[in-house]
Amino acid sequence: MQSFYITTAIDYVNGSPHLGHAYEKVLTDVIARFRRQMGDKVHFLTGVDEHGQKVQASAKKRGIAPQQFVDEVSAEFRALLPKLNISNDDFIRTTEPRHQQVVRAVLQQLFDKGEIYKAEYQGFYSTRQEQFLQNKDRNEDGTWPEIFGEVTEIVEANYFFKLAQYQEWLVKFLTDNPNFIFPAYRQKQVVEFLKEPLNDLCISRPKERLEWGIPLPFDEGYVTYVWFDALLNYYSAVVDRPEIWREAHHVIGKDILVPPHAVYWPIMLHAAGIPQPKGIIAHGWWLQRGAKMSKSTGNALNPLDLVTEFGVDAFRYFLIREMNVGQDSDFTLEQFMVRYNSELANNLGNLVNRTLNMTTRFAGGVLPAAEVAEDLEKHLHDLWAKTRDEFIPLCEGYQFHTALERAMVFLTETNAYIEKRAPWKLGKSAEPKDQALLRTSLATMAEALRLAVAIIQHITPATTEKINAVLGYQPGAAWRDELNWGTKLSGAKVAPALVLFPRPQPPAKPA
Ligand code: MSP
Repeated sequence: MQSFYITTAIDYVNGSPHLGHAYEKVLTDVIARFRRQMGDKVHFLTGVDEHGQKVQASAKKRGIAPQQFVDEVSAEFRALLPKLNISNDDFIRTTEPRHQQVVRAVLQQLFDKGEIYKAEYQGFYSTRQEQFLQNKDRNEDGTWPEIFGEVTEIVEANYFFKLAQYQEWLVKFLTDNPNFIFPAYRQKQVVEFLKEPLNDLCISRPKERLEWGIPLPFDEGYVTYVWFDALLNYYSAVVDRPEIWREAHHVIGKDILVPPHAVYWPIMLHAAGIPQPKGIIAHGWWLQRGAKMSKSTGNALNPLDLVTEFGVDAFRYFLIREMNVGQDSDFTLEQFMVRYNSELANNLGNLVNRTLNMTTRFAGGVLPAAEVAEDLEKHLHDLWAKTRDEFIPLCEGYQFHTALERAMVFLTETNAYIEKRAPWKLGKSAEPKDQALLRTSLATMAEALRLAVAIIQHITPATTEKINAVLGYQPGAAWRDELNWGTKLSGAKVAPALVLFPRPQPPAKPA
C-alpha cells in the first residue's frame, strides 16, 4: 500500500480561527479523503504554532501567562476540526515535548556540523513579522511597508544558519523537481526569487526580547526563531516513521511559500541530511471586499456561523466548488446562497426528493431493476462514464472545483432525464412497456444518485452517508468499485423522504 502524508500549515494561536484557516483544513481533508479512497495509506497532520512574539504579545494583552493563553486558544482551533468533519490522524502543538525535543536535536546537530554561527547584527527589525529587514525591503520613498508594522533599529548578537551557501543547491533541486510546488506558476516565482542572493538566516532571539520559545540547546540565553521551530512540526510528528515522512505533502497559503516553505524548509532539511518532502500545494486567499480575510484587517468571518446556519457539507462544498486551488476568491454570502440554492438544494436535493418520493409512490418503496436501455438511458450511462473518467484525474491534479462542476452537470442531466421520462405519466399507464419504462426510470435515477454522491464523497462525506442510508445502501470498501454503473440498488428499500438542504433565511447581518 502506498503511503501518503499530508499536512496543513500550523495556525498561529494569537486569535480565533477564521474562514481562511477553515478553508485550508477542508482542502487538506478533501485531499486526504480522496487519497484514502484511491487506496493510499494516509497520514494527515494538522496543528498549531504556539510560540513567538505574536503569541507572547497576545497573552500579555490578556494579562495571562503564555501557556494558559495557548491552552485556551489551541483548544478553540482543535474544536473546529470535528465541526468541519476533518479526518486528521494527528494534531501537533509546538509546545509539546515531542516537538521541542526534535527541534533541539536538529539545532544541536546543525550547530555541531558548523552550519550555525554567532554574529553581531546591527540593523532594522520588524516585530510584527518577527523578521530582520534590509534596505531592499523599503518602499521607494524610504519608508517601511505597512506589513512590517513598527520597525526599530537594533544591535544584537544572534545565531545564524548558513542559508546562503545552499542557494545553488536549491536552484538545482527545483530544476530537477519541476513539480515540487503546485501550482507550477508558484514554482516559477520561487526560482525568480532565487535570482537575488540569499542572506544567512537569523534563527535566535535573545531571551530579554522574547522568552516564549524553544531555548537553543547550545545557548540557553536564546530562544529559537519561530519559523525554524514551526516548520519542523511536519517532521517531528513522524520522526520515528521514515516511511511516512518520505511521502510528505504540505498544504499552505501562498503568503507563507516564499521564503519559509520554499527556501528555508528545503535548505534546513538538506543541511540536516533529512530527505525532502514530495511537494508543496500553495492555495490562494479568501478575500472579503478585495482584501485578504484576516484577524488584523477585521474582515474575518467565523466559519462556525456558516456551518451552524447551512450545515457542514454546504460549507465544505462551497469552499471547494468556488476556489480554484492556487488562486484567490472573494467570499460573499450572495454567492454562497446562489450555489447553495441552485446546486445543492435544487440540483442534488431535488434528485433525492424525486427518487425517494417516486419510488415510494410507484414501487412501494423498493427499488426495481432497470429493464430497458433506450437512448435516454444510454445518454446518461455514457455521460456517467465520461464524468467519472474526467473527475478522478481532476482530483489527482487538485482541480476539485472543475471536478465538482462536472458532477453538477451529471446531476443536471439526471434531473433532465427525469423530466423527459416523466415517470408520473408512465405511472398512469397500464401498458407493460410503460410499466417497464417506469421501473427503468426509477432504477436509473437512483443509480445516478448513488454514483454522484459516491464520487463527491470526499467533499461531502456526511451527505453521501445520509443519502446512502435513505437509499437503503451500504457501500463496499473499495471506492473505485462503487463508481461503475450497475444494479447495486435493485431490491433496496428506500426511506420515504429526507430533508437535506432546507431553505434557510439569510442571516440578519449579511457578510
Ligand atoms: N504559523 C504560520 C504557519 C507555520 S507552518 C509551519 C502561519 N499561521 S497563520 O495562522 O497566519 O496562517 C495559517 C494558514 O492559514 C496559512 O497557510 C495561511 O496562508 C492560511 N490563511 C490565513 N488567512 C487566509 C485567508 N484569508 N485565505 C486562505 N488562507 C489563509 O502563517
